[in-house]
Amino acid sequence: MKKQAIFLLLLWVHAYALEAQKTMRSVSSPSKNVQVRIGLNKEGTPYYIVSYFGATAIDWSKLGFNTKSLNLQSGFSFTKSAQKGHDEIWKPVWGEVDRIRDHYNELIYGLKDRSGHLVNIHFKVYDDGVGLRYEFPKSEGLNELVITDELTEFQMAGDHTAWWIPGDYDSNEHVYSTTKISAIDATWYNKEYAIATQHIVDPKLVQTPITMKMDNGHHIVIAEAGLTDFAALHLRVDNTTHKFSASLIPSADPAVKSVNQLPFNTPWRAILLSKDAAGILESKLILNLNEPCKLEGDLSWIKPQKYVGVWWEMHVGLATWDYEATQDMMSATGRKAASKHGANTENVKRYIDFASKYGFDGVLVEGWNVGWKDWFGKWKDEVFDFAKPYPDYDIDVLTKYAKEKGVRIIAHHETSAAVPSYERQMQTAYDYMRKYNMNSVKTGYVGKIIPKGEWHDGQWMVKHYVRVAAATGKNKIMLDAHEPVRPSGLHRTYPNWMACEAARGQEFNAWSTGNPPEHECILPFTRILGGPMDYTPGIFETRMNTYDPAKKEVVHTTVAKQLALYVTLYSPLQMAADLPENYEKRLDVFQFIRDVPVDWDQTKILNAAVGDYMTVARRQKGTHNWFLGSITDEQARNFSVRLDFLKAGKTYEAIIYEDGKDAHWESNPYPVNIRKVKVKKGDVLKLQLAAGGGSAISMKAL
Ligand code: NOJ
Ligand code: CA
Repeated sequence: MKKQAIFLLLLWVHAYALEAQKTMRSVSSPSKNVQVRIGLNKEGTPYYIVSYFGATAIDWSKLGFNTKSLNLQSGFSFTKSAQKGHDEIWKPVWGEVDRIRDHYNELIYGLKDRSGHLVNIHFKVYDDGVGLRYEFPKSEGLNELVITDELTEFQMAGDHTAWWIPGDYDSNEHVYSTTKISAIDATWYNKEYAIATQHIVDPKLVQTPITMKMDNGHHIVIAEAGLTDFAALHLRVDNTTHKFSASLIPSADPAVKSVNQLPFNTPWRAILLSKDAAGILESKLILNLNEPCKLEGDLSWIKPQKYVGVWWEMHVGLATWDYEATQDMMSATGRKAASKHGANTENVKRYIDFASKYGFDGVLVEGWNVGWKDWFGKWKDEVFDFAKPYPDYDIDVLTKYAKEKGVRIIAHHETSAAVPSYERQMQTAYDYMRKYNMNSVKTGYVGKIIPKGEWHDGQWMVKHYVRVAAATGKNKIMLDAHEPVRPSGLHRTYPNWMACEAARGQEFNAWSTGNPPEHECILPFTRILGGPMDYTPGIFETRMNTYDPAKKEVVHTTVAKQLALYVTLYSPLQMAADLPENYEKRLDVFQFIRDVPVDWDQTKILNAAVGDYMTVARRQKGTHNWFLGSITDEQARNFSVRLDFLKAGKTYEAIIYEDGKDAHWESNPYPVNIRKVKVKKGDVLKLQLAAGGGSAISMKAL
């Protein structure tokens, strides 16, 4: 039986190879370590294959679509192909590095379908992976394409280890699973575990980016780039063949995935390749595949920043978003509501004082505007007014106060996913922000989407998020979106789009089973590849029973690891999320959060293993100062790191914040040992990380 199958397979491969030869084209990356071949089989279906250092990374995989009117999966004929190279350096407005090399060879593979319409399959082949997209030029008699399925496949070359979250149409706020491809199955996410808004229809669906490790240690990631007018790319796994097939999130009409007017290009399907985990973190492939900046003029108003906020006190249950303090998110989840409305003038002043005293740029205020009374878990339109504060929030007084103290209030626009209502109010809301001296907004999309039937990751919402990025950009407003589709590198195109949540953030530690200690060791290799995350690190009081003896929730890290996250979880927007009083109790430890920058010229990955640990050093923008963060999962680990990156001839004052004696995320999270040493290039530092722990180091050039 097995022999017969192998024989048939060989026969098929042979027949395919003969037919494909005529149409086969290939293209290699600049150093030739990545090679792509594409050709048509005898049914006229396009197939591609990717190799990495001579070994198959993606085996022969199909390309194409199902559409309402055209057959775009077979019957193609090859028209022509074109190849060229590209090598350019560009400078991001902010980022992990100050310059990025965009260096690739491209192949445009031209096809004609049975009815004469043209499709190009466009490959960009880099030394660290491949981008591929479909391009539909203008075509006589074809104005619009109604896509019912994308058929792109990614045939893995083995049963790799995969880090994945379920293919939820509505949320990405999941704990990661680590399994072989053959064991991917999301059934348990629906059964034993639920988050507020989730829609998991198929246990064989996973979200992108999905990261995998092969037996030879090489890593491969499937992601997307430049998602602006299409449904998000999820993947359906075949556990037996180890093949992933594209699965687009449907629109309100379940049969329709995407509707596009011609000419149009799909988003890029990105395949990141690296010999090790560190290379995945260093890859700029997703950014490179995105369009250059679309914002015009002087962009100096876009400023990476650190902020504090009237926020964690609601999540731990000390205050409410709602002015009437009777019905809000906490009580709606079965907890008793606190009796204090957080966003009152006096309380906000306290945060402004704190921000000003310790050098923070912004103060986020949630629950400032009317609408919170009946917002959570309903499917209600016209909930919030984005230009109307609650009566105990004196916006005139606070605007003046913040200005005097040199900080800015960050607006909060929780839409409760009533999206048309937000779109109607957007311009008024942004004018209102400008009037009151605000230039940053955090948006939110908690709950089921209105219009009914649409999903957070569908084309309709994807377009909405981009409209908001463009509109805030036009109004000189920086954007931080919570509950959006996961990012795909669009912060290159809209650099005012500083961060997204789009994953399971710190807040889950306050009111749920939380985030396991490995969580922050997975995010940079998966979700954060698409763009910065507003994770909100910096929790010093990690035990929620401090606030209410009945609570069992804890943050699953040591305090030293909370510090290290400011370096390991890159974002140009970082919150110091804990309460001011918790910081004031530990000002020596807090000093690291005050010192750590949010914009960098250089980044070095010193060690990394997906799901286990990572150590990263970054050079502060425009200086010789370096900061280092090292984190581990539930295992205690010791590392030696050589400070090769420091500038030769300079002496640095290093302040090391490390897990104290017997620290452990669960049994002993608090002790942080702080020591000062002088270091120079080439010195070796020993790092000792507790279980769920970390080390954070600032190195100031003297
Ligand atoms: C969920 C967001 O992630 C969180 O940061 C926010 O506080 C609540 N929604 C309320 O808008
Ligand atoms: Ca959230």
